[in-house]
Amino acid sequence: MRPQNLQKVIQSSYRPLPVIVVRPVAISTCQTRQSSHSPLGTPSANPRKKTTINTLQSLYKKQEPITMITAHDFPSAHVADVAGMDMILVGDSLAMVALGMEDTSEVILEEMILHCRSVVRATKGAFTVGDLPMGSYEISPEQAVDSAIRVVKEGRVQGVKLEGGMEMAPTIERIVRAGIPVVGHVGLTPQRQNTLGGFRVQGKTTLGALKVLEDAMAVQEAGCFAVVLEAVPAEVASIITKKLRIPTIGIGAGNGCSGQVLVQVDMSGNFPPGRFLPKFVKQYGDVWSESMRAISNYKTEVKSRAYPAPEHTYPMTEKELYEFDNLIDSKPA
Ligand code: KIV
Repeated sequence: MRPQNLQKVIQSSYRPLPVIVVRPVAISTCQTRQSSHSPLGTPSANPRKKTTINTLQSLYKKQEPITMITAHDFPSAHVADVAGMDMILVGDSLAMVALGMEDTSEVILEEMILHCRSVVRATKGAFTVGDLPMGSYEISPEQAVDSAIRVVKEGRVQGVKLEGGMEMAPTIERIVRAGIPVVGHVGLTPQRQNTLGGFRVQGKTTLGALKVLEDAMAVQEAGCFAVVLEAVPAEVASIITKKLRIPTIGIGAGNGCSGQVLVQVDMSGNFPPGRFLPKFVKQYGDVWSESMRAISNYKTEVKSRAYPAPEHTYPMTEKELYEFDNLIDSKPA
């Protein structure tokens, strides 16, 4: 297949970013702190009550769409939480959009846990879910429950998500029995891209659609409280949503799902121009251009010595300065 054709079949939101590091700007929240290493602040008092599994169930019953977005660190979780997201997912898309890896198979449980911890510190309102990465749950239900417990105990999230349908039912049952809420993930399951033949839309044929429905039913029966439907034709996702009694969270699955999820880096435009975006992503912002504008201006002003200006420096009395000058002058070099 030619590279340009290969691009067309890539429908997943899992796209690596070019290797360019963008660090959050530290804003001092405390008048007396003069170090450049200031914390990003205590998350703003959030008037929202903490979202629980019951809140999500009641949104579902009211047929109010559930909003979910990924976050991979403190700043991205903070803004998502203050914006009022119902759910924040520490997805294993972390591998590609935050850690610069080629695909999600590379990220390990410990890395997921570290990022979960950072996200949870900023999340006061949203329900938090952490992905189980490839290799942390497929060997046995015991391995899966062990990993899920670590993600909740060490990562501090409220629930876990794992990819797979019917074959994962015993695993999901085991995790749910341990008291951990599980979100399923069927349709396009990016951890299995090599088996699926790439990031391809699922459920486009009668048999394919039946398979997605069976998988969704199986994870529901196993105890999932919600299921992500990725890259499935809108009509199929809509029918599956009607057949289930748990919410479906769509990504590339049309408007008939019970909720929607997007990768924050994609929807906020935090990537350089020209990057491939799957068809289903709507770009709501241009974070890249705004960061670029700020950093370029900073560079120009440092080069021209316009920055730092007097207002960015610390004062000293003339007397002290005079004494200091004299002292230095009188000292042999
Ligand atoms: O890892 C991820 O970000 C995800 C979402 C795209 C659903 O699984």
